[in-house]
Amino acid sequence: MMNLERQTTRRLHEEHVAALDLLGRFEQTLANYRDPPEIIDDQWRGIARDMGSGMAGEIARHFDFEEQALFPRLEANGEGHIVQLLSDEHSVIRQVASELGALLQASLTEQFEGAEWRTLKMLGFEYVERMISHVQKEEMALLSALENILGEDDDAELVLDYAG
Ligand SMILES: [Fe+2]
Ligand SMILES: [Fe+2]
Repeated sequence: MMNLERQTTRRLHEEHVAALDLLGRFEQTLANYRDPPEIIDDQWRGIARDMGSGMAGEIARHFDFEEQALFPRLEANGEGHIVQLLSDEHSVIRQVASELGALLQASLTEQFEGAEWRTLKMLGFEYVERMISHVQKEEMALLSALENILGEDDDAELVLDYAG
């Protein structure tokens, strides 16, 4: 990982690392269950809740921030192609997240049968795969582009806005 000079890029990087950690735990849990977990299974309930709140909370907020505050700056600096690619990925990931979120929620209130569980697993693995690839792309392309574009004042303002 390159040396990040800006607060905004450091913050994004930290959130990427946290997201990858959660995705790794989720993927491992999915792989551990061949059959649907019991509805009272605490290990499943814990990760299903963590993923559900992660997707609805931090991840949604992170995507919004990138789209609203960062992508326009990149576009204005000739980085339109990467913005297009990342925006397209956001919209696919949001779609998968909304379906997966509903299934995770449902798994907490009703006992899943084999077919529902297989659907959840398939969507879960798809979400993990798309997110990992997206985060890797951003770590390689987005952060370095932002490091070149953001001035110190701009950076301080952005990170304050995001925190607020
Ligand atoms: Fe993103
Ligand atoms: Fe990101």
